[in-house]
Amino acid sequence: MATASQAPAGTDLQQMAQRHLWMHFSRMGGYGPDHEIPIITRAEGCYVYDERGNRYLDGLSGLFCVNAGHGRTEYGEAAARQVEELDFYTLWSYAHPKAIELAARLATMAPGDLNRVFFTSGGSEAVESALKLARNYHRMHGKGQKHKVIAREVAYHGTSLGALSATGITELRSQFEPLTPGGCHVPNTNIYRWPEERDPLWAADAIEERIVFEGPETVAAVILEPVQNAGGCFVPPDGYFQRVREICDQYDVLMISDEVICAFGRLGHYFGCERFDYVPDIITIAKALTSAYAPMGGMIASDKVAEPFMEGDASFSHGFTFAGHPIAAAIAMANLDVFEREDLPGHVLRKEGEFRQMLESLHDLPIVGDVRGAGYFHAVELVKDKETKESFNDEESEKLLRGFLSGELYKRGLICRADDRGDPVVQLSPPLIADTEQFEEIHDVLHSVLAEAWDQVVG
Ligand SMILES: Cc1ncc(COP(=O)(O)O)c(C=O)c1O
Repeated sequence: MATASQAPAGTDLQQMAQRHLWMHFSRMGGYGPDHEIPIITRAEGCYVYDERGNRYLDGLSGLFCVNAGHGRTEYGEAAARQVEELDFYTLWSYAHPKAIELAARLATMAPGDLNRVFFTSGGSEAVESALKLARNYHRMHGKGQKHKVIAREVAYHGTSLGALSATGITELRSQFEPLTPGGCHVPNTNIYRWPEERDPLWAADAIEERIVFEGPETVAAVILEPVQNAGGCFVPPDGYFQRVREICDQYDVLMISDEVICAFGRLGHYFGCERFDYVPDIITIAKALTSAYAPMGGMIASDKVAEPFMEGDASFSHGFTFAGHPIAAAIAMANLDVFEREDLPGHVLRKEGEFRQMLESLHDLPIVGDVRGAGYFHAVELVKDKETKESFNDEESEKLLRGFLSGELYKRGLICRADDRGDPVVQLSPPLIADTEQFEEIHDVLHSVLAEAWDQVVG
């Protein structure tokens, strides 16, 4: 039996959380009697409530995932109907109706010839699966040396050791090395930090240079997000993805579009690649596939990539017990029904200009250096000097983000992400149902808290 706990102050839930719950990516030692763990107990629409009944605008959609908004009981009803019919069956050598229907629906929605859906339980598993598929695909074509993956600096692709080899965030990687071999990194599209005269396709060309440097016969895939989350919503310059597509075709390298965040309306389209008009070989999905009402992910592969595994006695020797779980699949179907009925991607396209304008209006503050993103996925970069774009050093950034902003934004009722995996940014990714009322609320909190942050850290 575990040893008795030292009881921290606060409610029963608070005590139990502090003693027994291991939160992810969290400094557990920072919690105590004077610093409580935020406990969210209830949610509705764009809002969540804590155990004391305080209301927060969920400006992050959970973790970029509750795209349809909170509290849709019809998803629970779909889950209940599914339990009555078939609680669980596996996709290992069997199929069941909901996984079949969902796969067919996703194939219809996906661009080009991306017709084959492999389900997983989440995003890291989706990326892991895509990387394994890329290696195996080349092996099936007699090119087993092709195993490397090219990803972008500061990009986040998940935490399992394979996905982590694609993740380009040194602090997340270094503690767990050696990782799965083959991860190579190239510059991202942090255009705000580029010299003005730089060729817009510089970062795309860097991918070609890296493929040539590594030896094309060793490179299996390039993985990129339509809009890169970590670092703060880096958008591609015009023509970037078209050039990457050309490069991939030229060197027989698979193009993986990691849409764990960018799919399902986040950028105003069902898939992020549609926003930038490219067709990858594999799309990875998770998060908003079910609007996070159940854990589910997957990859959608093109016919070309799937074909070698569909013939004779070939198989893709890979799988997860819960992948394509009937209840998750039923919820995903209900979620897609809501997306269609309410035209959530269309709503984002109609409203993103207003959302963006609200964020742009923060430029009157000295701390706001850049506003960037697409759809309902934006970042505000914080700087020490607007003119020179000078950023905060590590110590200032720590004080700014963890010492002030994260806590203060939360205290004032706004959940968003204050992040410094690149330069310091505040990120917003509200539920796709968010409208003028929520934009105004975001503006009011952000404006006053960012003004205060300037006084605290710089002033
Ligand atoms: C682009 C991207 N890929 C992969 C992942 C990993 O997904 P998960 O946390 O579901 O494993 C994430 C998570 O945020 C992500 O943003």
